[in-house]
Amino acid sequence: MTTAEPRVALITGAGRGIGAAIATRLHESGHRVALLDRDGHAVTGLSHTLDPGGTGTALPLRADVDDTDAVRAALRETAATWHAPDILVNNAARTTPGSVWDIELDEWDAVLTTNLRSVLTLTRLCAPAMRDRGWGRVVNLSSLAGQQGGTLAGAHYSAAKAGVLVLTKVFARELAAYGVTVNAVAPAAVDTPAVVGLGPSVVSEAARHIPVGRMGRPSEVAGLVAYLTSEEGGYVTGATFDINGGTHMR
Ligand SMILES: NC(=O)c1ccc[n+]([C@@H]2O[C@H](COP(=O)([O-])OP(=O)(O)OC[C@H]3O[C@@H](n4cnc5c(N)ncnc54)[C@H](O)[C@@H]3O)[C@@H](O)[C@H]2O)c1
Repeated sequence: MTTAEPRVALITGAGRGIGAAIATRLHESGHRVALLDRDGHAVTGLSHTLDPGGTGTALPLRADVDDTDAVRAALRETAATWHAPDILVNNAARTTPGSVWDIELDEWDAVLTTNLRSVLTLTRLCAPAMRDRGWGRVVNLSSLAGQQGGTLAGAHYSAAKAGVLVLTKVFARELAAYGVTVNAVAPAAVDTPAVVGLGPSVVSEAARHIPVGRMGRPSEVAGLVAYLTSEEGGYVTGATFDINGGTHMR
């Protein structure tokens, strides 16, 4: 599938899991993809997979979203290679599961920094060029945990993901008049290394309660992001899209 208009898409946390699937899908759609991850090896590998002939359609960027200077440098490299991103997918996130009573405050700050503050910094750095161009798409990865207060990934993770939903609406209002949409996607139990890492008993117990009867696939989340970043997605903004196999219906 090729789009009418190829865009420049920057995906954070593109090294594996959902981020890699989104990058793959957007690349298949004909977009040039800037693959940002703190794991430089992973994004270099993905760029070779996507663009084996080295035609210049995939750019690996080693950067930590916590480090604003490193993010600025990655954006400069993207602009020098193509131009400032038309599409931004804020996907990078991390957590250390633990009880709300036991989370160290440093750990709380670290998770909020990666999972929420990065959405603020990346959007503030990327949106002005989209606004000036009169076209842009921002998609933020939230979570069912941010809607329901899930405890599996930790209270810091859930609080950050709830914050992502509000920040999505704030930026959507700010940018709606300029052809820039901002939406959130809220998955649950998608088959990625992060979830598998929680252990087989946690995974099978989680899957038992999903009406669809299985975990989600990264490619299914990527398909939703492809729609939200497309031309046809232009009238959808400030929305949260549930993609959870029917676990949470509202
Ligand atoms: N997998 C799920 O079931 C699920 C459910 C709900 C929400 N989500 C959300 O979807 C997104 C992707 O999840 P996933 O399961 O693919 O995660 P994952 O852990 O498998 O992959 C995350 C990627 O982000 C990168 N990353 C982490 N911290 C970073 C940082 N500070 N700077 C740059 N890169 C960083 C990692 O290196 C990794 O490549 C996350 O926002 C997550 O919260 C996932």
